[in-house]
Amino acid sequence: MINDLWYKNAVFYCLNVESFMDSNGDGVGDFQGVQRRLDYLAGLGVTAIWLMPFQASPGRDDGYDVSDYYNVDPRYGTLGDFVEFTHSAKQRGIRVLIDLVVNHTSDEHPWFKEARADKNSRYRDWYVWSKTKPANADEGMVFPGIQKTTWTRDKASGEYYFHRFYEFQPDLNTANPHVQAEILKIMGFWLQLGVSGFRMDAVPFVIAEKGADVTKPKEQFDMLRSFREFLQWRQGDSIILAEANVVPKENLQYFGDDGDRMQMMFNFHVNQSLFYALASADVRPLAKAMNETKERPATGQWGIFLRNHDELDLGRLTDKQRQTVFDKMGPDKDMQLYDRGIRRRLAPMLGGDPRRLKLAYSLMYSLPGTPVLRYGDEIGMGDDLSLPERNCARTPMQWSNEPQGGFTKSDKPILPVIHEGPYGFDHVNVAIQRRDPDSMLNWTERMIRMRKEAPEIGWGTFECLDTGDDGVLAMRYDWRDNALVILHNFHDRPVEITFDVGLKDAGKNLIDIADDSDSTADEKGKHHIVIEPYGYRWYRAGGLDYLLKRSEV
Ligand code: NOJ
Repeated sequence: MINDLWYKNAVFYCLNVESFMDSNGDGVGDFQGVQRRLDYLAGLGVTAIWLMPFQASPGRDDGYDVSDYYNVDPRYGTLGDFVEFTHSAKQRGIRVLIDLVVNHTSDEHPWFKEARADKNSRYRDWYVWSKTKPANADEGMVFPGIQKTTWTRDKASGEYYFHRFYEFQPDLNTANPHVQAEILKIMGFWLQLGVSGFRMDAVPFVIAEKGADVTKPKEQFDMLRSFREFLQWRQGDSIILAEANVVPKENLQYFGDDGDRMQMMFNFHVNQSLFYALASADVRPLAKAMNETKERPATGQWGIFLRNHDELDLGRLTDKQRQTVFDKMGPDKDMQLYDRGIRRRLAPMLGGDPRRLKLAYSLMYSLPGTPVLRYGDEIGMGDDLSLPERNCARTPMQWSNEPQGGFTKSDKPILPVIHEGPYGFDHVNVAIQRRDPDSMLNWTERMIRMRKEAPEIGWGTFECLDTGDDGVLAMRYDWRDNALVILHNFHDRPVEITFDVGLKDAGKNLIDIADDSDSTADEKGKHHIVIEPYGYRWYRAGGLDYLLKRSEV
């Protein structure tokens, strides 16, 4: 069981082939490039790679506008290169997940081209049409400020088509059984080429009812069960990680009460309050969010992340909380996006302060779920705010202080490499950090090792402990007679906290597994611990021999 549910104790690493490593000097990253960096990723300790879209695409939304689901975009290589890559990853014990973008296609997809050219085409019904402009055409935009409408008139047929995202991304009519069958076929295809599952894009929109007369779209959750069922039949250990930014009361509908829908979901709810905690040193909303997302089926798992390739969406915080995060981490209008978020990378958001960065990442590795890193996080990469929208945080990976950060031999990289300021590639790169035992890179490697040796986090149950200080988060994990106690101090000053682990004798001795500051409880069973500003502690209760105690592997 422990080995079968591999995603429970995994470490995910998200990368975009296009901006990771260019092997042929044309300025665009490619599969052969990523393949050459697999030993780097294996060394870091990641166990699964999530690839952002690499299928054929006009590239108007960084590949989230697919024009052929069954091919690699020629700029990144061939299907042959893809299979070499998944095979090589497997040899190193690394699984590969890919983005599954089936809420919409590109408007250059042959299905859409045919659908708009001919109302009698068999693909007409694969999209969502209206003869007249629907009354709610100016509602529900995902990219407010940039996207003007959700229904655009198609000149060819004179009718309007629905698009939840940009106008060049027509929504697929996912209620159509032919479309559903095609989605399964796409999954089956990539499974056959060696992937272990999918990060499914925009899941709430995939399952939403669509149409001109739909005012309150109902979700068709059963679709998720059929995706899951198909995956399990084809390849029992494959999973779907859902991108679904929904309110906690809907979570179980996505996981399925019996765990018969999505295996994993990103925990957006925790993500937002985590940033609030970092900005305000008030951990109460974070502890609340953790408790509100505690319930999940035994096979369900959260994906825990800090920043991703999109803006940091703070839409579900209160106005006051959101303003606090803006003030502290993205005060300029230019750093904000879509009226709800911040588009920067994490390191500049935290002022490049290594103590705060380590606090944030230690949290990411220790919150209930499976950590999902983003390429460049491990070296603390920065952003380039002169690039439009979300591109500012999508610049090429910085490998060395060679020209273009060692990403490409071309002098025209696909996006500019950050070359100046504190995050420029000559100071922030893999080669330099590899040599420095105290670098972010080497720290990350040690953290990942520690996280993998702490299966209590991925598998166990948690409880937030009372420390009497709203700026300190204390969590205890329990799993099979093992317990972990993890502390994070969000204050910019040292604090002394007093707490009871709640395990009686078993909680008397806390062994520090990250450092050398063990703690023994006083005669009343209380621990008194002083934590430095932005400090963290990982303890195992009751000794280090947890592996010996484990009854099953
Ligand atoms: C969510 C993806 O994360 C985002 O980058 C993309 O623009 C939209 N879905 C549309 O596919």
